[in-house]
Amino acid sequence: AQLADSGELKNKRVFIRADLNVPLDDQGRITEDTRIRASVPGIKLALDAGAAVMITSHLGRPTEGELKPEDSLAPVAVRLQELLGQPVRLLTNWLDGVDVSAGEVVLLENCRCNVGEKKDSTELAQKMAKLCDVYVNDAFGTAHRAEATTHALALQAPVACAGPLLAAELEALGKALREPKRPMVAIVGGSKVSTKLSILQALAQKVDQLIVGGGIANTFMLAAGLSIGKSLAEADQVGQARSVIEMMQARGAAVPIPVDVVVATAFSASAQAQVKAADAVQPDDLILDIGPKTTEQLAEILAKAGTIVWNGPVGVFEFDAFANGTKGVARAIADSDGFSIAGGGDTLAAIAKFGISNQVGYISTGGGAFLEFLEGKTLPAVAALEQRA
Ligand code: 3PG
Repeated sequence: AQLADSGELKNKRVFIRADLNVPLDDQGRITEDTRIRASVPGIKLALDAGAAVMITSHLGRPTEGELKPEDSLAPVAVRLQELLGQPVRLLTNWLDGVDVSAGEVVLLENCRCNVGEKKDSTELAQKMAKLCDVYVNDAFGTAHRAEATTHALALQAPVACAGPLLAAELEALGKALREPKRPMVAIVGGSKVSTKLSILQALAQKVDQLIVGGGIANTFMLAAGLSIGKSLAEADQVGQARSVIEMMQARGAAVPIPVDVVVATAFSASAQAQVKAADAVQPDDLILDIGPKTTEQLAEILAKAGTIVWNGPVGVFEFDAFANGTKGVARAIADSDGFSIAGGGDTLAAIAKFGISNQVGYISTGGGAFLEFLEGKTLPAVAALEQRA
């Protein structure tokens, strides 16, 4: 069930579990607010329907049982207040009762600080269920976690439904996977094969072309017998990389291995960047980006794609000298006529940096949840809502 059809909300106490887990800098300032902005429509929907609205989210991975200043949702409350254009009161110690009237919004402090949240405690969920008439899960980014506010509460609340963001994510991503326009191309970057192995294996059974980038591509270069100097790679994952290459070969598609790379001898924004052929990497070279010929090849593949799935940059795009590969990929995705879906924190940052957000078909607010959904895993938060439907 969705929020829009969950009945009369006037004067009802609506508890919204959102994912407001945004990146903060060392001063506690929000560096990227996509998730907060994406949560606004669900909150407005409840407010416009005359509900008394309480919202909670986790922030980071705090120790349960205490609320350290750096774990507080205070910066989020300020941003939410600006976006909603109305006061947002931040409440601590909210488990024993919440005072909120129709038309008001309160933000309940970091739910992961409550004892039992991470363990999906039924007892904790029963306490939270007493606070509300309707529970709304609009936290797609946390849908892969079975925690008290994402799972047990969905089973305990008087009424449980999906918010508009959760519903839109499932709809957009589900459609792209169920009925992909072919050829379907996935581009997976990031630093480690080990953390993305299951998604690489799942995609290798589904897509027509699989492109790897970043540190992941370094391990694939090793698998292809190339030297990568002192670049980031996982020697113990070479066998796994080979098996992914073979899975794609069995589907009649080679995994493109970079033909050229951008190297430096130090990992720094001011390091001297040098383009080298992939077979000319020296022992003290660090590969920090794909080279222009490789970028061109990938752009050609992306130009012909019917569907594109993008997770992870192909180089150290935070440093301008090593941003051209990711920029080229971003531009190719923007220019492609195919339907593109993208997700993950670094990917969102790259999309923002290269200004292509309006040219991506669907930008997911999920990181881990986006990947698990693509892998075809059941998301516990969604399963709990389905159980109630
Ligand atoms: C995320 O940032 O991917 C979600 O908010 C989930 O956070 P978690 O990995 O700490 O559970």
